[in-house]
Amino acid sequence: MSDENQSKCRAVCLISGGGTNLQAIIDNIKDKSLKIDLISVISDNPAAKGLQRAEKEGIDATIFDFSSFEDRKQFDQCLEKEMVELDPDLIILAGYMKILNSSFCNSFAGKILNIHPSLLPKYKGLNTHQRVIDNQERLHGASVHFVTSELDDGPVIIQYQCNIENNDDRHTLQKKVQQGEYIIYTKAIQWFSEKRLSIESGRIYIDGAPLNEPKVIKHD
Ligand code: GAR
Repeated sequence: MSDENQSKCRAVCLISGGGTNLQAIIDNIKDKSLKIDLISVISDNPAAKGLQRAEKEGIDATIFDFSSFEDRKQFDQCLEKEMVELDPDLIILAGYMKILNSSFCNSFAGKILNIHPSLLPKYKGLNTHQRVIDNQERLHGASVHFVTSELDDGPVIIQYQCNIENNDDRHTLQKKVQQGEYIIYTKAIQWFSEKRLSIESGRIYIDGAPLNEPKVIKHD
């Protein structure tokens, strides 16, 4: 998906599954609301539907099948080597379900974004929609953050917030939250690509000003 504009932010997307966030990114690139060059999609899961989404758009799609590596160390080394060769300006984790090791995170410090389906720092990890229901939370959502080598950690840039209604179950919540994910991820990626968003010494800056609280978009 290269383009006439050479100075565009060159991004790589890492996925593990369905790739609806990837699809939203692709759609936004196509309708020009997101001005990045998505140079490659990499999946650790050969069955990830997101791979087909990339191929359909002619985007280079690579499988790093975890099960075909000797061990985790070898997998991590090969992934990092591939990324060093690609040399992207931005790495977008879009439903990538492996933790990146500290060597990878250090090599690409300040260049990795992740989206997570909860209002971080609450509900890191899996099954967030069911866990908020079980805990009778009234508010849920999604967060975009810079990545560190800790699970779903790192300074939060923007959050999407929605109320949990009495009739919500994990499926309705997932749907609601994912619609919000597409909005906040596009915003954060666009800010980054325009060099409006950065991180220095663990502190986020937007338009040159430190961000003390994550930006918030509320479900209407
Ligand atoms: C998204 O909801 C994303 O927030 C979540 O995986 C889903 C991927 O969906 N990510 C995490 O849980 C990261 N810890 P998708 O493949 O349809 O974009």
